Amino acid sequence: MTDYPEFMLSTTRPLPDEGVISCASPSNIALVKYWGKRPIQLPQNTSISFTLDTCKTVTNLTFVKRDTAADNFDFELIFEGQPKPDFKPKIQDFFERIAPYLPFLQQYTFTIETHNTFPHSSGIASSASGMSALAFCLMHLEKKINPAISDPELIKKASFLARLGSGSACRSLEGPVTVWGKHEAIPGSNDAFAIKFPENLHQNFEHYQDTILLIDKGEKQVSSTVGHDLMHDHPFASKRFEQASKNTKKLKNILRSGDVDAFIEVVESEALTLHAMMMTSLPYFILMKPNTLSVLQKIWEYRKNTDSKICFTLDAGANVHLLYPEVEKVQVSEFINNELVAYCQNGQYICDKIGFGVKLL
Ligand code: PMV
Repeated sequence: MTDYPEFMLSTTRPLPDEGVISCASPSNIALVKYWGKRPIQLPQNTSISFTLDTCKTVTNLTFVKRDTAADNFDFELIFEGQPKPDFKPKIQDFFERIAPYLPFLQQYTFTIETHNTFPHSSGIASSASGMSALAFCLMHLEKKINPAISDPELIKKASFLARLGSGSACRSLEGPVTVWGKHEAIPGSNDAFAIKFPENLHQNFEHYQDTILLIDKGEKQVSSTVGHDLMHDHPFASKRFEQASKNTKKLKNILRSGDVDAFIEVVESEALTLHAMMMTSLPYFILMKPNTLSVLQKIWEYRKNTDSKICFTLDAGANVHLLYPEVEKVQVSEFINNELVAYCQNGQYICDKIGFGVKLL
């Protein structure tokens, strides 16, 4: 029996012969981090993220009905205008996982053309934006077969499918804040898909900025898949999952009440805990670079000397996300250019802000 029968497609309507579906889906940055999973791609703890706006994957999905049905998947992947065979195994695995929910997959030849709006190998993971974009395009193909599906149902199933491609991808479909993983304090939260933060977001967090300092653009030494797996025998795993649960509840109240000082404390603590888990796993590893630490020190110094509410978060890499209110844009830009840009590889950084999720093009 397949899990989650509510996401199975049962229709006998005819399949469209061919067409193209295009969308742009953003990346997201976790505030409470997901680190540790159980099969298949279910989180060990709830996570909460800001959806981004500028860092996106744009995907065109061309589909042509095959003459005869087959039991393999037939697809081509074009990344930035070039065939990309290295990415095919990941898509093949994704298709295998989602096929029970999209039984029409084997009946088409697909061409997936995709590009990112952020620089290639910037150290920014494109799996969240890429997998959510592909899942959303496939859901629009499902909508052609089952036009009765409502927009909320379509988004929910797209999130469910995206999760099976890359866990954090399920948080990219909506915005500005999403929650993934069941939590008693968050009504409607679920391990199988992300939901939009169900409370009013305080105006202090509206238009929040995220400037991503590109500290090290090299390939990650340890993939997130390996990192998640290392939480299985991790000495601090259960305490970590408890802490994430407490931080989820705290952050829920903070996002509602607008307490920016409390926000800083939870978000920075979560970022450092994520890296502490990496440093205390076996094998242990460090993804931060010396420049990452220099930037963190500079942020703390700047906050001490000004009334700024800037804070940082980190993903599974060396880059630093600077989070701050829109009113501080001018001062923070000076701070970056005067004090932080020297720590960025080739002086590069990306200015982003919170956004609203996937868009059909
Ligand atoms: O979605 P994955 O499997 O690449 O894991 C992402 C994990 C972090 O980015 C480190 C944290 C998160 O919640 O996004």
